[in-house]
Amino acid sequence: MSFPYVHELETRTLLSEYQGKKDARTLKSWRDEGGYQRVRKAIDMSPDTITDVVKESGLRGRGGAGFPTGLKWSFMPKEDGKPHYLCCNADESEPGAFKDREIIRWTPHLLIEGCLIGARAIGAEHVYIYVRGEFFEDTQHLNKAVVEAYEAGFVGSNIMGSTWSCDITIHTGAGAYIAGEETGLMNSLMGNRAEPWAKPPFPAQAGAFGMPTTVNNVETLSTVPGIIEHGSEWYRQWGSEKSPGTKLWSCSGHLVRPGNYEIALGVPLRDIIFDVCGGTPSGKPVKAVIPGGSSTAFLSAAELDCATTYEGMQEVGSSLGTASPIVMDEDTDIVRAMRRIAQFYAHESCGQCVQCREGTSWIVRILQKIESGDGRLRDIDTLYDLCEQMTGRTICVLADSVVFPLKSSLDKFRAEYEAKMTSDKVAVG
Ligand SMILES: Cc1cc2nc3c(=O)[nH]c(=O)nc-3n(C[C@H](O)[C@H](O)[C@H](O)COP(=O)(O)O)c2cc1C
Ligand code: SF4
Repeated sequence: MSFPYVHELETRTLLSEYQGKKDARTLKSWRDEGGYQRVRKAIDMSPDTITDVVKESGLRGRGGAGFPTGLKWSFMPKEDGKPHYLCCNADESEPGAFKDREIIRWTPHLLIEGCLIGARAIGAEHVYIYVRGEFFEDTQHLNKAVVEAYEAGFVGSNIMGSTWSCDITIHTGAGAYIAGEETGLMNSLMGNRAEPWAKPPFPAQAGAFGMPTTVNNVETLSTVPGIIEHGSEWYRQWGSEKSPGTKLWSCSGHLVRPGNYEIALGVPLRDIIFDVCGGTPSGKPVKAVIPGGSSTAFLSAAELDCATTYEGMQEVGSSLGTASPIVMDEDTDIVRAMRRIAQFYAHESCGQCVQCREGTSWIVRILQKIESGDGRLRDIDTLYDLCEQMTGRTICVLADSVVFPLKSSLDKFRAEYEAKMTSDKVAVG
């Protein structure tokens, strides 16, 4: 099936061409397509040149925050005599996101190539791929691919006969959302609880095992080989000045064709929902969309023409996040949806910060009360107050992650909250 916005890449940048073709997993078929030539090219480049090419491409981190990848790599110290590490974040726990898993499942060698090139750029001697524990089958595919790459001399000592060596270790987590936060991930990797730490120290100063570390998302690293092969201008032919390139969109919810699509950044969200994904199965209008995974602000039906760029999403008060739109048709109960999201964050809070530990479960209790018809108008004020108290005050942004959807749902769908309160309760306030 071909869709208007799934562009035809001239080479395998991501998974458009490969999704569903099992043989792309094997080293033989990957090599037949020229696999690992980009690693060869990177070995012949200096680490600074690799970083510069990625900087010029404008690639931004696909783990959610959209931080420029080349810039992040340039923060790593040079010639400090310490071991450097690259952590590939394959935890992918954000509700709505299911793109990294597909890369691991169908094109594991693409990820390995990206890891090696990233490691070379930051002077890392070891890459840790931290995979979400539930991705059992996918981890097996990745394991197999890493073993094949070791046997072929593409990973390990003196890679491809060069003087450069780099090891890859796959580490599986135990299924905690907070292990996807970069410092929580490194703590977990080191055998501690997956609790985030307050920065500084930043990972580039003292990360995994106390050494300079860069953490990058699976999709980010899988995008790098194409950039190294074709150059930064090639990548910039798609997207906008501030959001260049293509992006994998994990589309779910009330859609005729949910799934992962590789789409040039910048097309209107409306086109992704209706042209690419076929609109709602019921044929009913869209009521709301959470565009970037459950930690991003709700958009209303009036905002669907926004551009799917980092800046376009900001203009409508939301964010691109992991580009995982959850689409809700007009029959959706927004209070129920929000209660369900809040429950997830309350369950996944690591509990270190009072505002997050207490705030998330307090939000759940209030939303349950409203949902069951026992709410009061003052509960809405309490929810707003909690949003205020939970923003920007915690070790990591998990607390903020529940505030974005909650506050936007109150702002845009207040009438739905009030409709669940009987008129006497509304009057009492
Ligand atoms: C609560 C929380 C959960 C996160 N989960 C993930 C995740 O599952 N995968 C991911 O790549 N990034 C996740 N991140 C973002 C990472 O901390 C980090 O920014 C990212 O891995 C950096 O990679 P990038 O620069 O390539 O995007 C999470 C952040 C927070 C605050
Ligand atoms: S904000 Fe929440 S998840 Fe993050 S460190 Fe604090 S308690 Fe843990």
